[in-house]
Amino acid sequence: MATFPEFISQNEERDGVRFSWNVWPSSRLEATRMVVPLAALLTPLRERPDLPPIQYEPVLCSRATCRAVLNPLCQVDYRAKLWACNFCYQRNQFPPTYTGISEVNQPAELLPQFSTIEYVVQRGPQMPLIFLYVVDTCMEDEDLQALKESLQMSLSLLPPTALVGLITFGRMVQVHELGCEGISKSYVFRGTKDLSAKQLQEMLGLTKPSAAQGARGQQAPQPPLSNRFLQPVQKIDMNLTDLLGELQRDPWPVTQGKRPLRSLGVAMSIAVGLLECTFPNTGARIMTFIGGPATQGPGMVVGDELKTPIRSWHDIEKDNAKYMKKSTKHYEALASRASANGHIMDIYACALDQTGLLEMKCCPNHTGYCYMVMADSFNTSLFKQTFQRVFAKDEQGTFKMAFAATLEIKTSREIKVSGAIGPCVSLNAKGPCVSENEIGTGGTCQWKMCGLDPSTTLALYLEVVNQHNAPIPQGGRGALQFVTQYQHSSGQRRIRVTTTARNWADAQTQIQSIAASFDQEAAAILMARLAVQRAESEEGPDVLRWLDRQLIRLCQKFGDYHKDDPNSFRFSETFSLYPQFMFHLRRSPFLQVFNNSPDESSYYRHQFVRHDLTQALIMVQPVLYAYSFNGPPEPVLLDSSSILPDRILLMDTFFQILIYHGEMVAQWRKAGYQEMTEYENFRHLLQAPVDDAQELLHTRFPMPRYIDTEHGGSQARFLLSKVNPSQTHNNMYNWGQVRPFIHLLQSPLLSMNLYWSLLICSIICSSVC
Ligand SMILES: *[C@@H]1O[C@H](CO)[C@@H](O)[C@H](O)[C@H]1NC(C)=O
Ligand SMILES: *[C@@H]1O[C@H](CO)[C@@H](O)[C@H](O)[C@H]1NC(C)=O
Ligand SMILES: *[C@@H]1O[C@H](CO)[C@@H](O)[C@H](O)[C@H]1NC(C)=O
Ligand SMILES: [Zn+2]
Repeated sequence: MATFPEFISQNEERDGVRFSWNVWPSSRLEATRMVVPLAALLTPLRERPDLPPIQYEPVLCSRATCRAVLNPLCQVDYRAKLWACNFCYQRNQFPPTYTGISEVNQPAELLPQFSTIEYVVQRGPQMPLIFLYVVDTCMEDEDLQALKESLQMSLSLLPPTALVGLITFGRMVQVHELGCEGISKSYVFRGTKDLSAKQLQEMLGLTKPSAAQGARGQQAPQPPLSNRFLQPVQKIDMNLTDLLGELQRDPWPVTQGKRPLRSLGVAMSIAVGLLECTFPNTGARIMTFIGGPATQGPGMVVGDELKTPIRSWHDIEKDNAKYMKKSTKHYEALASRASANGHIMDIYACALDQTGLLEMKCCPNHTGYCYMVMADSFNTSLFKQTFQRVFAKDEQGTFKMAFAATLEIKTSREIKVSGAIGPCVSLNAKGPCVSENEIGTGGTCQWKMCGLDPSTTLALYLEVVNQHNAPIPQGGRGALQFVTQYQHSSGQRRIRVTTTARNWADAQTQIQSIAASFDQEAAAILMARLAVQRAESEEGPDVLRWLDRQLIRLCQKFGDYHKDDPNSFRFSETFSLYPQFMFHLRRSPFLQVFNNSPDESSYYRHQFVRHDLTQALIMVQPVLYAYSFNGPPEPVLLDSSSILPDRILLMDTFFQILIYHGEMVAQWRKAGYQEMTEYENFRHLLQAPVDDAQELLHTRFPMPRYIDTEHGGSQARFLLSKVNPSQTHNNMYNWGQVRPFIHLLQSPLLSMNLYWSLLICSIICSSVC
């Protein structure tokens, strides 16, 4: 039999699912005592090049309240041609096309290796891909030039039939007509007044798809294939390339001491309205490129006086952020309109100062947590490479991005779903598997994701509802089915179905087997998402206290110790890394805001809540490698004791790739030893981390910042802020002094040892917290 780590990784590879627990406590009461909730991290479109989609549609359970998809866990009676649904136990007839099935001739969806399977929907029209560019022109020439080049490049990466449109804005907003012969014509709007979809429709003369296509008889209304503002790339790429090339900086003069007037709020509103009127319920991307904050009209986040800075955390705490609430409301309204129509809103913000990501974060949040990219300038490889990677293709030559998706979950009777945290909005679908106890986006068994990619990951929180004195449920296994319907970038509709099950165990007699099934990595990320969700509405210290309390309870439940003997505490290997994940999570930018601007915090949280487990773990606990003459590169502890004079360190925090040269290495480098033939091995030593860094820089999305620093360098602070400060503070406090220093739990200098001592004290004395 496979070990649990093997079992976990096989399941992750096949199904894109990781659970906090892989043996489930069989009663509601026992499940609540596990401290870490029963929950799953699901990556719906995890890359499966070995899984060709099948060219027919799924067979559904006939019970109207169930509609689960036929899967390998169903009981099949081959003679009677019946199958029993493993969720509702309904017996179903196979459809006529399945008459030939037998034990030796099974359809793919009944084979255990197809617990995850993808179907191509044969009905319905092929949908075009739609890209609407919304471009700020209030920026320095260098930035605008670089942005124009990136946009022109992107046209060459789009499939010829994709529809594109262009809106530019500065003080005014211009919607460019792309169909007119040889003349560049545009409609100009004031940036101070919002427009409803209806007003926009009249002003731009847009045709409503249902009215235009209603005459086609019984056929479902088809969206028009293009209009004057959204044209196929193959038809207009030359002209649009020219048009982009001719874009100028916003011509309105900006006086000394003022910010340019930037009508971002109205520009985004017009973009949302344009697609709402012309392509409702069709996958589309609105890509907004901004070089600074909105300074007028709805959605403005700061006035145009340069001497008044944009709001900080301090202003927000003091309730002194004048525009924040109103602006957030504007963007939230846009986000929910875009989301209702299946349209993605991406934001590329490139500026040295804040641009208002805090106020605008709901736009990507509600539309699939698609792309929020933050860089200092459009003329950086961070922006250029990241933007290019949006258009990455798979082996079949289609984009990795997917559109207009819904996820539905089915559960066996003993489980309900409390909610989801991650890139989704609720579809408010009630049903027998919806729990009354909401976590995150709850009260539903269906969610919408306007956009997703192979890394997009949802956390789904579950509730065991089986009663305490009820026997272990029939069959001994709890099952879940995830049904993801989406628009593939080839234009097809597809349905990916994952069906998975885990054993039940009685927590009173089999607690060991439940404990052995703990997935500490998944658990850490699932708890981290809960903490980040709390941090959006609660005070920072309260969130940390909550996290500490959960860790203490977990230690009490699963650790071994004698009362009043702090040295006696033991955690089994299955739990051994978990406290350290929590320690680094407490220090992470997802929970600590005061070293970051509100925009940065929004950005970090955004990335954290959308990425898969592997990447999220790097964000929580950065990876550190050491390079030295003493052997090949090796992973080392994220601890200040790993910083040695004769070592080079490579740190990956997901957002930054940092190379740090120890004191001696830095001196040798300054002395130029790497140039001398007799010190060739030193040259190789210097080069090795650079090569490894390049590899990471070339594959990561968004592209990380690259930092090259050394002992005493000003950027070494990025390394020092991540390592456990074991050497500075380890010895300052001894055990007896711990309790008066309880406030140290809030200190950024808190070391892991001290943190652990404080926790152990709380576990064993049960009085400190
Ligand atoms: C962008 O930056 C590069 C390197 O710093 C510079 O050579 C180039 O001229 C810049 N581009 C523009 C348009 O200014
Ligand atoms: C593109 O521009 C050329 C020359 O300006 C013009 O003749 C042609 O009609 C334009 N094509 C479209 C589709 O607008
Ligand atoms: C995203 O939106 C959801 C639902 O409105 C909200 O609960 C969550 O806190 C938001 N997340 C972030 C990081 O803003
Ligand atoms: Zn059923």
